[in-house]
Amino acid sequence: MLDTSEENRRRHSLDPHQPVWLFGYGSLIYKADFPYLERQPAYISGWARRFWQGSHDHRGTPDQPGRVVTLIETPGHRCDGMAYRITPNVFEHLDHREKNGYLRLRQTLTFNDGHTTDGLVYIASEDNAAFLGPADEADIARHIAGSHGPSGSNRDYLVQLAEALRAIDAHDEHVFNLERHLQEMNR
Ligand code: SIN
Repeated sequence: MLDTSEENRRRHSLDPHQPVWLFGYGSLIYKADFPYLERQPAYISGWARRFWQGSHDHRGTPDQPGRVVTLIETPGHRCDGMAYRITPNVFEHLDHREKNGYLRLRQTLTFNDGHTTDGLVYIASEDNAAFLGPADEADIARHIAGSHGPSGSNRDYLVQLAEALRAIDAHDEHVFNLERHLQEMNR
């Protein structure tokens, strides 16, 4: 199975005593299973959140991958999420959690009060082996409704993400459309 954790370890030489900001835009918003010094809602510019990444290890299986979010470079877009200030040793856990295609990239984060900082973001680019790419939103919702993996149902991933976005007053057309499709399927 794809494993980007080695490459992530090599890519950045971080001072172990210097906390860094991590920006989460998917499960990292609502499932903070790691220690952090503080957290604050933030956004990054020029990226759109899309359910275009396959999940073979969390919300699906190698035979039947689920669909989770990645970021697609989209000028003019803004992606809202949660920024965490963490110590670099936490990346050991995070690199393992995000190993199915995600690489840590440096980005500028903007906090709600307008101030900016440098941070790291896990992004699964279009050339990674687990990338599934675009599809009709109704088809993506059907795919999500039928997928399960070791971390739980793909449906819960989507619903928890939508709820977490509402909790920070963030609007995401793509995520909320998928959630609506999912609800309509249950009627
Ligand atoms: C993230 O949440 O920042 C990355 C994608 C995910 O783990 O869902």
